[in-house]
Amino acid sequence: MAAPSALYAPLDLRGCSVLITGATAGIGRATAWRYAELGCKLAICGRRGEMLEELKKQLLEKFPELPPPITVVLDVQDCEKIAKLPAQLKEAGMPDVDILVNNAGLALGVASAIENELENIQTMLATNVQAVMFLVATFGPKMKDRGQGHIVNISSVAGHEAYVGGSAYCATKHAVNAFTIATRHDLAGTPIRVTAISPGMVETDFSKVRFKGDESKAAKVYENILPLLAEDVADQIIFATTRPRHVQIADIISYATNQGHAKYVIERKGESMGAPGAGYVGSCLGRQPTQDDLPLSSSCTTPYVSWSTLASVPAHADRKAQKLGERNAAVQVIIAAQRFIFTAVA
Ligand SMILES: NC(=O)c1ccc[n+]([C@@H]2O[C@H](COP(=O)([O-])OP(=O)(O)OC[C@H]3O[C@@H](n4cnc5c(N)ncnc54)[C@H](OP(=O)(O)O)[C@@H]3O)[C@@H](O)[C@H]2O)c1
Repeated sequence: MAAPSALYAPLDLRGCSVLITGATAGIGRATAWRYAELGCKLAICGRRGEMLEELKKQLLEKFPELPPPITVVLDVQDCEKIAKLPAQLKEAGMPDVDILVNNAGLALGVASAIENELENIQTMLATNVQAVMFLVATFGPKMKDRGQGHIVNISSVAGHEAYVGGSAYCATKHAVNAFTIATRHDLAGTPIRVTAISPGMVETDFSKVRFKGDESKAAKVYENILPLLAEDVADQIIFATTRPRHVQIADIISYATNQGHAKYVIERKGESMGAPGAGYVGSCLGRQPTQDDLPLSSSCTTPYVSWSTLASVPAHADRKAQKLGERNAAVQVIIAAQRFIFTAVA
């Protein structure tokens, strides 16, 4: 972890109240962990109550000093329930929300614009757009009255680019971006900050949801590329909200290293990420390679990605550990074979 700078102080968020929608999985869940680590009071929302309770339990185990997170079973498509949310949170001990993270969202299907199903269109619009607008209208006025608040809308690179098979989803995220910009204009005379976060491909349940639970289709999306992790996006949310109060991050657009466009430029290089030389071997070893480990190439002594680092990320630990085991075995065989050949030739 980078040492804190002696020259620049980020905002201390201890004690701040943070409301996160879509905290049962993926980016929202990772974000809850990061805010808890910073000492924030949390309200976590989602439709799956048992996942919220599980997250609450885990957070309390890890951060027993924090007030218990407030869990709210909420379908953000339900505007009546959103309207009641401030009173509900107040009753649960959170009278004000300092940071609103509008994260709940989804893509459904990859149908063409002329084949989109009405139900999918409506669900995406209600979840990705209407809910964001209504949550801002619900919590914004109090933020303005208090002279304090940060609205973070999770958009996407699909809000900046449109692609085949993404007409409705891209339209919703373009709407989120337009709404975020206009909100920033509306609140420019106040201390409220408004930020969009626009990630590229992130490995979460997003694709499973998009393909209605078809795991093999979902896995294909992330095949042979190292996508962003939920934790990477959570880190961007934390960055934006911990800048000093006079700094307003408008949008953070990010991609995985081998992705250049939402859909059309995705180079599936695997874990070497296209690095020359022995980046691949180094990454498989899960530690810094030594010269002994590098019979395949002596040009690279630095692994470009360490599986041990990735394996420490909770969401990926199991999958990475399994891959690491398989790859370590394969690499050991290759190294042994090469040593044998070198010895024979010498
Ligand atoms: N993964 C990507 O590649 C990617 C890229 C760019 C942007 N994004 C955006 O990032 C955000 C989070 O997605 P993710 O990748 O973390 O996907 P995810 O793992 O599927 O998580 C989505 C979250 O949204 C919640 N949600 C969905 N519909 C909801 C509803 N009607 N009411 C309340 N909560 C709802 C889900 O909770 P419940 O199911 O429990 O309700 C879940 O917690 C979304 O806005 C997505 O568009 C994702």
